[in-house]
This record gives sequence, C-alpha cells and structure tokens, in this order.
Amino acid sequence: MRESSTVSGLPETLRSALDEELGKYPQNRLTQSVERLSTRYRENAPASAPILSSEADIAAYAGYRMPATYAAVHAVLAEAALRAPGFAPRTQIDIGGGTGAAIWAAADVWPSLEESTVVEQVQGAIALGRRLAGNAGDKAVRGSTWRRGLIDPAAPAPDADLVTLSYVLGELPEARRADTVRWLSAKAGMLVLIEPGTPAGYERIVVARDQLVELGLSLVAPCPHEGACPIPRGKDWCHFSARLPRTGLHRQLKSATLGFEDEKFSYVVASRTSPERAEGRILRHPVKRKGMVSLSLCAGSGLTETIVTKRHGTAYREARDAEWGDAWPVQSTVD
Ligand SMILES: C[S@@+](CC[C@H](N)C(=O)[O-])C[C@H]1O[C@@H](n2cnc3c(N)ncnc32)[C@H](O)[C@@H]1O
Repeated sequence: MRESSTVSGLPETLRSALDEELGKYPQNRLTQSVERLSTRYRENAPASAPILSSEADIAAYAGYRMPATYAAVHAVLAEAALRAPGFAPRTQIDIGGGTGAAIWAAADVWPSLEESTVVEQVQGAIALGRRLAGNAGDKAVRGSTWRRGLIDPAAPAPDADLVTLSYVLGELPEARRADTVRWLSAKAGMLVLIEPGTPAGYERIVVARDQLVELGLSLVAPCPHEGACPIPRGKDWCHFSARLPRTGLHRQLKSATLGFEDEKFSYVVASRTSPERAEGRILRHPVKRKGMVSLSLCAGSGLTETIVTKRHGTAYREARDAEWGDAWPVQSTVD
C-alpha cells in the first residue's frame, strides 16, 4: 500500500461527470451541506435516519467525500490484490454504496469484474451514482445495477466474489453490527470492510476482524496473523492513509488551500481462501536516516521495531522505498 508517493485520484470520466453534477448547484448551497455533513460525520454516532437528506447533500457528499472514500477503497483493494494474486472477481456487491466509490475503485483494481451491484437506502444517492456510472469507460461500472435497499441480515446474504462495505458500519447501531458482519460474510468470496481511520473506526474494525476469524474466514490484510490484535486498545489504533488530489471545486468546498489531502482509514479484508499473507505490516511512516531505515511493524510476534541498514543490501533499498501500510518484508528480500 502506497501513501505519500502515490496519489490516487478519481478516474477522469468520474471527475468530469462529478464536476458537471456539482455545477447544477450554487456553491454556497454545497458549502452549507459540506459543513452540515462534516459536523454530522464527526459526531461519529449511528444514524436513526439517513444522513444524506437532500439532493444538495448528496451532491456535496459526492463532491467532497467520494474522492476520499475512492482513494481509501482503492488503496485497500490494491493491497488485497497483492495478497491474493489469484483472485479475479467477476461479481461485486457494494452495500451502503452511496454514490458508488467502491465499484469504481474495484473496477480499476480488477478488470476481471463483469457485474457490479450497489445496494443503497437513499434514492437520491442511487440516482446520482447511476448517472455518474453511466459515463464510465469500464463496462462493469457503466452497466452496474443499483438497488434501493436496507441492510437486512434476515434477507438472503449478498452473494458475490467481492462484497464491500465502506464507511457504513459506523452508521449502524452497535447492536446490529455483528449480525451485519455475519450476513455480509456468509456468501462473499472476499469481504472488505473499511471505516474512518479514527480510534472509533478502528474499534469497529477490530471487533469485526475477530468475528470474521471466529466465523472461519482467513484474514487477507492488513493483519499478518489471526491472533489477538497486539495494538494496545485505548492507547493506539491501527490505521493507514491514502493521498488524493483536490481539484479546484473540491478545494473550494472544503475551504482548503493544499492541492492534496490524506484520507485516514482502518480496514480488514477476509476471504474464504488462504491468502499470501504478509509477514509484517508497516504501521507508521518509516523513519529514514542516512544509511538506515527504522520500521514499526506488526508481525506474527507482535509489535516490533526493525532497523534496516545499508549492509542489508536489497532489503535496505526496499526499506528506503517502503511506506506506511506496506507489507514487510517485500517478497524475498531477506539477504
Ligand atoms: C458515509 S456513506 C458511505 C458511502 C460509500 N460506501 C462510500 O464509501 O463513499 C454511508 C452510506 O451508507 C448508507 N447506509 C447507511 N445505513 C444503511 C442501511 N441500513 N442500509 C443501506 N444503506 C445504508 C447511507 O445511506 C450512505 O449512503
């Protein structure tokens, strides 16, 4: 997984379709929605009614959050693809899909996808997501199916090679999350759960992670093992970061000056088949000094600090390129 070196921007067709949609609203209307939504998402509380409650809210969400959720989902799926090189999904179901960030990201990572389905509760998000998808170069996105529906663990489980749930668990009441995870995992070939990279987002992910192991799925990423998560709860949290460019309008909506932002996220990917799991995962920005790199790792043995120096040859060169979130060691570099 690459953070600062790779900037994961929206596909050009999506970016220009989004600009056109946003152009339908006065900018101050969108800015009001961005402010309201940002405050609501920061509250980090389950939603008793849909948070996206007007057309302008939905457009604002797509303008200021979709680029960020796309970047996070893309980073996670790219890592999953590295860990499961034989996985070539044909079908995807994205639950609570909003305006469809996860189907665009998945199609970019896996050209094998043929059928993408988005299930979403808000009709306006479906309508916008469908219009955006209509412009896609990729066939699975362009021909995607959009279904209005609620997460319902009593209904038949989502049955697809790839099932995604990004930035949704936190909107569900805590008491419903375990049933939802069981339901999502029942028929998924690979299940991907992504939450904001906050202590609360991590907490939801680590609970789901333990549940998935108990249900007999294999962890694909980010964890290098299926034992208890060694991160001291309440003191630290496992999260990663994806860098994305801010376009002109995106910058204006966020009243921001920088040309990029870093989206922090926590995640777990689990599957029915055994992955090529990483031996270790880099948990912080590597500290790079002259002749040495220091890596904070989660590994089978727990949390460790590893120093890689020039005398490690290839491994040193790879450590110089390594980023927060990458697997370590890079395959066959121990020399
Ligand atoms: C924060 S948005 C994330 C959207 C999208 N997954 C993304 O990553 O950009 C949460 C989405 O989940 C949907 N959602 C929340 N609870 C839901 C439920 N019980 N059933 C279906 N959709 C739900 C919301 O309507 C909203 O579109």
